[in-house]
Amino acid sequence: MLMIQSSVIFTLTFHKHFVIYEVRGGNYMESLISTAESQNPQTSDSPYSANDTQSQYTLQIKLRSSVVEEFFDVPRMKIHRWEEAGKIQAGHEEHGSRKIRYFDAENVRKMVDLLGRKQNVDGTYTYAIWHNKGGVGKSTVVFQLATMMSTLMGLKVLVIDTDGQADTTHLFNAEQEVPLDTDDFIDQRSICDILYDLMDPHNHTEESLKESFEDTKKTILPGLDLIPSDDRVVELDYDIRELKGKGIITEEKGDESFDLSSVALLKKFISFVQETYDYDVILIDCSPDLGDMNVNVLFAADCLLIPVELEPKAPHSLKRVYNRLIKLAKMHESFSFEKLLIVPNMNERHDVKAVVQTRIRDMLPNFSSRITLTKTTTVVKAIGQRLPIFNYQDPNAKWMAKIPEPAKRLTNELWDLCHEMLNLEEPKPDHHGLFKPKGITNAQ
Ligand SMILES: Nc1ncnc2c1ncn2[C@@H]1O[C@H](COP(=O)(O)OP(=O)(O)OP(=O)(O)O)[C@@H](O)[C@H]1O
Ligand SMILES: [Mg+2]
Repeated sequence: MLMIQSSVIFTLTFHKHFVIYEVRGGNYMESLISTAESQNPQTSDSPYSANDTQSQYTLQIKLRSSVVEEFFDVPRMKIHRWEEAGKIQAGHEEHGSRKIRYFDAENVRKMVDLLGRKQNVDGTYTYAIWHNKGGVGKSTVVFQLATMMSTLMGLKVLVIDTDGQADTTHLFNAEQEVPLDTDDFIDQRSICDILYDLMDPHNHTEESLKESFEDTKKTILPGLDLIPSDDRVVELDYDIRELKGKGIITEEKGDESFDLSSVALLKKFISFVQETYDYDVILIDCSPDLGDMNVNVLFAADCLLIPVELEPKAPHSLKRVYNRLIKLAKMHESFSFEKLLIVPNMNERHDVKAVVQTRIRDMLPNFSSRITLTKTTTVVKAIGQRLPIFNYQDPNAKWMAKIPEPAKRLTNELWDLCHEMLNLEEPKPDHHGLFKPKGITNAQ
């Protein structure tokens, strides 16, 4: 794979084609309110409310049979035959007079396998999803990509939340509730504990690293694990900085030894996970800053995805981000990315946005993504119910109603983005491309 290092980043800048996506701040309150509703099945009219107490998973995916047929372009009879042969099992739910037949994540993964469409990924792709700017959709994109890659592509995914806001941990329904009437701190283990463990070199053994990881990991869905975060990241940032000069992690070059303790703490852990487990993808959600935790993330990741908002200031913030990366690459020889993708999220067709997009493209033409992610309120609503966009159904729609068009559009775009991120072959428009048989494309 192409190694993009400090000098190379610069040289490639003016050569490759580059597409931009638009991102705009959405209404997080709205998603919080709908989350509260979805947590109470009595008040939620969604056919997909998380009320299945049998499940061992914290997220519930319930893909209607008709949607599965449309997703994978697979005939109903074939699905029936697999069911009769006991290869897959449908779930059933009654909502008043409505009877809904659905497949959960485990059965969808089985179907992906039966269809021979499980993706083969070389090694472990480790992506940091980062931008210096807040509200551009980092956590949303992580949630959507992780659920799509694990359920619809049959991949094994690890999400690491490193943001003290713990939005991703919350989206995956894995946040520890702190009682309001006590001053108790969180005692659920998080990425903070893993890094604190690593600050003691005695814990650098394979056995200790494994214990630290296993004790912290939470399984969210089949094929999808999470390392949660919590608000101690702020203190952690300071403690990481304090490691400078302590030589906990060193790199030998010739006769010299370089202290990488304050930048390579997370890398130590990620390298262990990459070597020890069979994850296809690791997605790291970041806070919107360049504190010591994020320097660690950027150091540990092999690839970087930057969601962008196409507002007038976007080219300037992006240029600053880019200059920061160059600076880091100049400071540390081993700071490099195999792939860097700039992805505009929350795109709307609008002249001003098109102008901003062109400016960014002209400025950084080589780190392009082919895909632009559409702005749609369905993603906010879906997230409110802790559902991936591909599983969203308007709770007020008649039960026969299909997934809304904007949700299909965004699903297709995310599907294409997954392929681009993992260097997978473009799906044929009339075959593997989710909803594409209905003629929906994401060409901008
Ligand atoms: N494609 C989209 N269409 C509509 N709304 C979106 C889209 N993507 C994200 N949003 C909304 O934008 C808001 C901000 O998204 P998100 O929290 O993912 O951003 P973030 O970059 O992670 O923010 P922070 O920097 O604070 O961590 C949320 O309300 C989210 O639902
Ligand atoms: Mg976030």
